[in-house]
Amino acid sequence: MSFREDGAAAVEWAARYLDGVGDLPVLAQVEPGDVRARLPASPPEQPESFDDVLRDLDEIIVPGLTHWQSPRFFAYFAVSASEPGILAELLAATLNSVAFIWRTSPASTELEALTLDWTAQLLGLPGDWHGHIEDTASVSTIAALAAAREATGGHVVVCSEEAHSSVERAARLLGLETRKVPVDDAFRMRADAADLTDAAAVVATVGTTSTTSVDPVPALADACAEHDVWLHVDAAYAGSAWVCPELRWSQEGVDRADSLVVNAHKWLFTPMDCSLLWTRRPEALRAAFSLVPEYLRTSDEADSLSDYGPALGRRFRSLKLWAVLRCYGRAGLQSRIREAIRLAELFEGWVRDEPGWELAAPRNFSVVCFRRDASDEENEAIVDRVNAGGEAFLSHTRLNGRYVIRLAVGNERTTEEDVRRAWDAIRQVVAVP
Ligand SMILES: Cc1ncc(COP(=O)(O)O)c(C=O)c1O
Repeated sequence: MSFREDGAAAVEWAARYLDGVGDLPVLAQVEPGDVRARLPASPPEQPESFDDVLRDLDEIIVPGLTHWQSPRFFAYFAVSASEPGILAELLAATLNSVAFIWRTSPASTELEALTLDWTAQLLGLPGDWHGHIEDTASVSTIAALAAAREATGGHVVVCSEEAHSSVERAARLLGLETRKVPVDDAFRMRADAADLTDAAAVVATVGTTSTTSVDPVPALADACAEHDVWLHVDAAYAGSAWVCPELRWSQEGVDRADSLVVNAHKWLFTPMDCSLLWTRRPEALRAAFSLVPEYLRTSDEADSLSDYGPALGRRFRSLKLWAVLRCYGRAGLQSRIREAIRLAELFEGWVRDEPGWELAAPRNFSVVCFRRDASDEENEAIVDRVNAGGEAFLSHTRLNGRYVIRLAVGNERTTEEDVRRAWDAIRQVVAVP
């Protein structure tokens, strides 16, 4: 088989998968070890065909997957690899650029800077920030906190109890201490309770992982300015919502941040992985990371994006983001974000109107936190039974010590019928104990 024929078969496979993914059980219906047990323990001695790979993909790999592309994936933060993003990944792999310095991939270095500028414009961010791409928000936050440590000499990272675990992990890795600040009754950091003594950075979250709460960024920016502390904003999920002007209330004060992370792979329809990190203090990131060995010294007077983060070899991630921004445009991004929010709002209304159910946190974006008016064990059993049935995939959190069910809308293929099917599945497991 030729590359052309195999390639056509692979694209056909991808198209069929996307057409049919809504018919598959969302959560993988396998036990640990099942997939491995069906695969040979040793690699082939002789070449096999790409057809064989596709066959095993169908027969062994797909049944062992949890389908993040399913329109009824409602766990964690639901995401979408859009079609332009998928195709651009194929092209990026074809080019296989390794952009450790500008000359090893001038176009990917410059396209990365351009797409970050475009995205900043779409999201209404300051026009003079420096942006680059890391793989994940975990790594973006490591980069930001390394710069904060360099710039301030502080040794404490201040964040709320609701901040993502990646903040504490980054602090630990950098030898910094984490100081957690309590939250108010809407799960927002209590700025009045934030002690900035010896702080290197405050990490404010816009769109926390549990409830999508929004920390009071303006008050935290004031406190950071007063104490000369770095302000990093984690808007990994909710930052994409700023493409819609009506959601920019959640952006207040973000223009005063020293750094900001938004994951394009969360809610900007870009395939995993693509985490966007902006800073208004690029010199601090360079001070933390720039280290040019002899073999990479050149006379080029151009920015090398590896000077802004931990990785030297950087793949061509901006190509997929560029493809998404071009093929969707501002209008296409807005309509998808608005539809996710509309569906979450609809679901929220069903929960509110149904006796025996309660909402457990304010809904800011496309995530609904709710619970049955029953014990934690019963709520946990509802999630387990819905997930085991394969009709929808839900996740949970714990708020004020109680087990809470989360339904996160975010996949671009999700329709009203999908949300309705999830609600029916939830009520059905309650009705049939
Ligand atoms: C608010 C927030 N920050 C950071 C992260 C970590 O993201 P990543 O998996 O890209 O490291 C998450 C993950 O869901 C998140 O919700």
